[in-house]
Amino acid sequence: MECPASSAASVELNPVLHPLNWLLGNWESDIPGEGTFPTIKPFRYTEKLYFSHVGQPVINFMFNAFNAESKKPMHRECGFIRIQPGTNKVAFMIAQNSGLVEIEEGELTGNHLKLQTEKLARISFAKEPHVQQICRVFQLLPDGKLEQTVTMVTDNQPLSQHLHITYRRSS
Ligand code: HEM
Repeated sequence: MECPASSAASVELNPVLHPLNWLLGNWESDIPGEGTFPTIKPFRYTEKLYFSHVGQPVINFMFNAFNAESKKPMHRECGFIRIQPGTNKVAFMIAQNSGLVEIEEGELTGNHLKLQTEKLARISFAKEPHVQQICRVFQLLPDGKLEQTVTMVTDNQPLSQHLHITYRRSS
């Protein structure tokens, strides 16, 4: 499936984005991801990721997760990624369908990207417990798969893993 926000094939990648080239394109979970947290029942999910550009020094992204069994849509995120030119500092600007908006910042080391919450806000009626801190790692594995691991702190739990998933390129 083509990302609705995807770039025109002819648009050249802005040179600022070269260090993040490995992330671009569409990805789909190869086997279901594992959802965990001390306070919830473990669950399995599938997910499609879309990273695109339109020639600007910005990546556009969309993540759509589904229940692995019923295939029903679940968590969704979308936003933009920027890299501070000439540095390895990366920023994600994220909106989540749970009512959360967030800035995550971190460092790119080769094909390994580690981010954590810098700013977080939510709608007034967001479900509790509220997340207070998110740490996220993306890395390109030697076999060409992409891995995402998310840990979080909530109102009543210390840093614990919430998500682990690997993806294969779908385009
Ligand atoms: C950075 C992204 C995400 C954040 C910040 C987040 C945050 C949270 C929080 C705060 C909880 C409540 C934990 C508790 O009750 O103690 C939760 C639960 C849950 N999350 Fe996530 N989540 C994220 C991504 C996802 C994704 C991709 C899925 C995949 C389908 C998912 C599925 C669930 C499920 C099934 C539960 C338990 C039931 C529920 O409370 O709705 N989450 N999440």
